[in-house]
Amino acid sequence: MRAAGPRPRARPRPGRAPAESGRALSVVRGSVRPVDNDAVTPGAGRAEEPPDDTPLVEAKALVKRFGSVEAVRGIDLHVRRGEAFGFLGPNGAGKSSAMRMIGCVSPRSDGELRVLGGDPDREGPRIRARLGVVPQQDTLDTELTVRQNLQVYGRYFGLSRASVRRRAEELMEFAQLSDRADDEVDPLSGGMKRRLTIARSLVNDPELLLLDEPTTGLDPQARHLLWDRLFRLKSRGVTLLLTTHYMDEAEQLCDRLVVMDGGRIVAEGSPTELIARYSTREVLELRFARSEHTSVSESVADLAERVEVLPDRLLLYTAEGEAALEQAHARGLRPVSSLVRRSTLEDVFLRLTGRSLVE
Ligand SMILES: Nc1ncnc2c1ncn2[C@@H]1O[C@H](COP(=O)(O)OP(=O)(O)OP(=O)(O)O)[C@@H](O)[C@H]1O
Ligand SMILES: [Mg+2]
Repeated sequence: MRAAGPRPRARPRPGRAPAESGRALSVVRGSVRPVDNDAVTPGAGRAEEPPDDTPLVEAKALVKRFGSVEAVRGIDLHVRRGEAFGFLGPNGAGKSSAMRMIGCVSPRSDGELRVLGGDPDREGPRIRARLGVVPQQDTLDTELTVRQNLQVYGRYFGLSRASVRRRAEELMEFAQLSDRADDEVDPLSGGMKRRLTIARSLVNDPELLLLDEPTTGLDPQARHLLWDRLFRLKSRGVTLLLTTHYMDEAEQLCDRLVVMDGGRIVAEGSPTELIARYSTREVLELRFARSEHTSVSESVADLAERVEVLPDRLLLYTAEGEAALEQAHARGLRPVSSLVRRSTLEDVFLRLTGRSLVE
């Protein structure tokens, strides 16, 4: 879990926008693409757009090393304009490392990368001006108010005072923080800070939004609200790139996703395709006394294509869950509880990584 208290970070200086690492990244006025001062509708009226078929993110054999640790081990990505693309993977899979390279705040160690048609090494400031970034860790200025955080960030992007003021009000409304506008950030709840970070990422009307675990720490209502807002942004043409541990989030939001493990992409496709390729139509969940799980798993092995033994239950992967349950009963097995359900991404994940995402 993230620490709830404020994290020390360098105070940003005018003309510089805070990077996710806490260090300042230069968005020097004049060297960034001029931002339309009145732009409030994401996806509208863009200048210098690459042609529609240009991928917004394209990576080939992309690598990130930290000393001897290879966090990203040669991944290929192709993110099209207007789609919602997800990275799913366990802790340490390399999701944030990949996102930070795409966000142009962490140079690649090897391979090729193009973001919004440009080279992050040479065109970082121009690309960053057109990105919205929600880092995994909030980097808000905790001594400023909610409104000031949005206004200061907007000024980094060269927006006029009047449009920054208007944009801040809209975004507070968006994040349901209008009633906290004049409160300092420090005492806000973790979920409110997260919502403010997300609002802040939209200040420059980005065409590509990078969201690293956007809803971790949000309550269910706030998550659903955010999904709705992200869906609306997407329908207005904003491309979304997100990481998540939540399978339902990936299923709800992502047109396509990659499953990462140990720095590599181990599967790629739409949620439906992944389920069809890596799981069975149905899953029979059986609970027995814990001590019986291993022995029972042997006696039901032939009833399913695959059996997983989890700490609290057995999962039988089969096209016909009810039929498998009847056969288990016919063999005299008496589970404490049973459930037949459809396969989900959680099952795909378990199959591919050998781990469940329950932490
Ligand atoms: N700045 C860094 N310096 C050294 N090692 C790093 C750094 N950032 C990441 N790593 C290492 O790279 C690997 C991948 O980390 P990364 O943060 O990309 O994973 P992740 O998939 O985002 O995990 P999580 O789900 O926990 O956020 C880990 O072994 C991590 O320790
Ligand atoms: Mg991460």
